[in-house]
Amino acid sequence: MEQRKILVTSALPYANGDIHLGHLMEVIQTDIWVRLQKLQGHDCVYVCADDAHGTAIMLSAEAEGITPQQLIDRVNEQHQRDFADFLIDFDNFCSTHSEENRILSESIYKAINANGHIARRNIKQLFDPEKELFLADRYITGTCPKCKTENQYGDNCESCGSTYSPSELINPKSSISGATPIEKESEHFFFTLPAFRDMLKQWTRSGTLQDAVANKLSEWLDEDLQEWDISRDAPYFGFEIPDAPGKYFYVWVDAPIGYMASFKNLCERTDYDFDAYWSAGSSAELYHFIGKDIINFHTLFWPAMLTSAGYRTPTAVYVHGFLTVDGTKMSKSRGTFINARTYLDHLNPEYLRYFLAAKLSSGIDDLDLNLEDFAQRVNSDLVGKVVNIASRCAGFIGKGFEGKLANELDTPELLAEIQSAKNEVTQHYNEREYGKAIRLIMALADKANQYINDKEPWVIAKTDKQSIELQQICSTGINAFRLLIAYLKPVLPAMTEKAETFLGIEPLKWTDIDSLLVDHSINKFKPLMTRVETDKIQAMVTATQQEFEAQQEAENKPMEDEISGLEAEIEFDDFSKVDLRVAKITHAEHVEGADKLLKLTLDIGLDKTGAPLTRTVFSGIKSAYNPDDLVGKLTVVVANLKPRKMKFGLSEGMILAAGPGGEEIWLIEPHSGAQPGMRVT
Ligand code: 2FM
Ligand code: ZN
Repeated sequence: MEQRKILVTSALPYANGDIHLGHLMEVIQTDIWVRLQKLQGHDCVYVCADDAHGTAIMLSAEAEGITPQQLIDRVNEQHQRDFADFLIDFDNFCSTHSEENRILSESIYKAINANGHIARRNIKQLFDPEKELFLADRYITGTCPKCKTENQYGDNCESCGSTYSPSELINPKSSISGATPIEKESEHFFFTLPAFRDMLKQWTRSGTLQDAVANKLSEWLDEDLQEWDISRDAPYFGFEIPDAPGKYFYVWVDAPIGYMASFKNLCERTDYDFDAYWSAGSSAELYHFIGKDIINFHTLFWPAMLTSAGYRTPTAVYVHGFLTVDGTKMSKSRGTFINARTYLDHLNPEYLRYFLAAKLSSGIDDLDLNLEDFAQRVNSDLVGKVVNIASRCAGFIGKGFEGKLANELDTPELLAEIQSAKNEVTQHYNEREYGKAIRLIMALADKANQYINDKEPWVIAKTDKQSIELQQICSTGINAFRLLIAYLKPVLPAMTEKAETFLGIEPLKWTDIDSLLVDHSINKFKPLMTRVETDKIQAMVTATQQEFEAQQEAENKPMEDEISGLEAEIEFDDFSKVDLRVAKITHAEHVEGADKLLKLTLDIGLDKTGAPLTRTVFSGIKSAYNPDDLVGKLTVVVANLKPRKMKFGLSEGMILAAGPGGEEIWLIEPHSGAQPGMRVT
């Protein structure tokens, strides 16, 4: 068979969040496909990277008090470790914030620009006057102009479903600073996507996409194809656009170029030839695995950009649906928004690989991870069927025949039947119909078990432990096991490795399915996989809930301190050290990234020289108060508390409040006749 050159990618995870089960479904789907290609002897390369740019990453780093580079370096290490532990066999994993990507992004932009595919014009956008940055729609909240529901995002209302532009929101607020945004104009760069309508109509219908995806796209291609805004104004964490100081590439420009850059980085370390994969006439195959939320970026903008810049387009884009857990969207409070690391702390990664494989198809429907079903499926298929075949036969071969398999097999038809499924199994895997492949493999495993049931080797062993018949039956069983394990190798690489050691064989290849193992010594059988324990699943869910609560609590710290129950007794002297003052709240705002905190500025009177005294305090009362309603209120502050560095800044005191939490937290409010700075005695 001719060796194919294949380059495969999974979507690049953002560099400011943990890898969770949703990411894992995609990389496991891709990894199984890649492993199959490699086992078949194709030259298949799998690259990925972190998607490191954009406002969200810039703000996350700022909230942590570190540089974006520090943040993305730390996260990159964690991501790589998580993926490696799930046995994802990347040939390279980089970051989009790399020199290779900068160079490629600049040169692609220059080529597109030289072809006249970049337009420039001024646009008006909402701008946060405090943070001095333009606000993407998701950073603006306000009251829906249609149904008047409060706290809606900048582009659509979750309550009535209407869509609008952020400037139509009533009482809009920046969710970063709490400030009221202003409208501001600036020049933006646009990629002239409509110029590629014909090219895209042809490309999307040339076998590159699943039908459901192509149909969705044809709606867009027939109607509202619009120019694509590819620039963002400083401050932005990304690459500056050549000859355009203060203008940056929108993260979605250099993200897919990151696929090329990661491959380029690999080429620099190996013999791979970049042009052989990316030049316009390339005969190599290029596949992107993605989720259905990012179709337009990969099937409209990306092929059009590549075409304009003189590169090849993808051979195919494979789209999958979302992962749900126990029938609904993953949820932090329910404990089903499970991080890769939390899973690994409790369960074997191959359980998940197997379960997902058993459920995956080539469609874009969502896939449900039902946790009960998960345990049952893995236990009954892998432990109960596949491993069972080996464990039922290995002992007799070890005891009666010094580990040697027979010269001749008992029922070669059984093995021939398993072997003859190879084309069908291969086709299902190739077409990403993993569920079908697994069903077929398990049907064959059932047959192998039935064969052993019928032959009852244990009955023969009772009378003659060294009977040739016993050896031949068990050797047939072991061969069936070997073939089934070979079929499962793309899904279960670690279990296969253990099986290869047990069988005393070289790493299995796809061609090995055509041969059988006779007159061959095997090793002592050790359990290849243990059963999924349901209490471990529960422990993982509980741990996920606890992580969520801990995170809530960390943000909630000042409130906990302020409203905690009775503490140990203190001396009067200690109490007299506490300087309680009347304070007037002069400013209150939301804290970006904090679920519970408000940032308050307090007027606490005058110092001895007559200068105004102010304090900045972070207080966990967001659930009970709107910042706007607090301004002007009087309260009581511990004015001489040692300033405390918090994740979001320095807190210079504490205000007094009481209540059980949630909406029921009441600020201690002195009589309106009190003046800021008065001592509370
Ligand atoms: O949606 C996401 O998570 C993006 N970070 C995917 C980027 S894929 C590619 F284009 F880089
Ligand atoms: Zn509404």
